[in-house]
Amino acid sequence: MNKITLTLKVWRQKNAKSHGRFEVYKLTDIDTAMSFLEMLDVVNENLTREGKEPVAFDHDCREGICGMCGAVVNGQAHGPLRATTLCQLHLRHFKNNQTIVIEPWRSKGFPVVKDLVVDRSAFDKIIASGGYVSVRTGSAPDAHAVLIKKDDAEKAMDAAACIGCGACVAACPNASAMLFVGAKVSHLVLLPQGQPESEARVLNMVKTMDAQGFGNCSNEYECEAACPKEISVKNIARLNHEFRKAQIAK
Ligand code: FES
Repeated sequence: MNKITLTLKVWRQKNAKSHGRFEVYKLTDIDTAMSFLEMLDVVNENLTREGKEPVAFDHDCREGICGMCGAVVNGQAHGPLRATTLCQLHLRHFKNNQTIVIEPWRSKGFPVVKDLVVDRSAFDKIIASGGYVSVRTGSAPDAHAVLIKKDDAEKAMDAAACIGCGACVAACPNASAMLFVGAKVSHLVLLPQGQPESEARVLNMVKTMDAQGFGNCSNEYECEAACPKEISVKNIARLNHEFRKAQIAK
């Protein structure tokens, strides 16, 4: 069992209106088998024992599935490990006596609620604006009842892996949400069930994305690098293509 000592600089902010600041917490003899969120649990146990306010941070599944967790760790969304959510990051990837700076996602579209928690309801609004799929799905049909090209099925499933964590926005210098929207548009438009509403869906989702204050893509590829599900920027190209097609058809 390896033990390390860490210095944490954690962003503390009472609410959306107050000014935030970094607070420093020292952790000694901390087990490297611990996950990053378990380390924050230890910080919070210490703070609670001292009668202080614990650090607010989002989490749910702690299995890299739900998309609830997320923070910028030493300048990188979800930390230094590729294709890894914050909850799946472990302390063995940090060095003894290292200083770790932990901040919330920073974007106009994701206002800070408290400490490391940001309001990601802008993503919910984008999804809601995409509307429903009118194709009646009913009970599970035979796997081969609707023929879908293998390549399209795989691309759609890859896009559907997006967990909506917001790391793409946090990593982008323009705070663009185009990787997220590209993934959501792609996973439906590649399948026959997504065709009937495809034009209205892309137009509405892009309109809502712009209204929520997210920036545009300028091909930095930071989103793809930060994405814990390795969503490809090809989905942004598909989003642009579908958007232009829908505008012409309008
Ligand atoms: S807590 Fe669910 S993905 Fe991290």
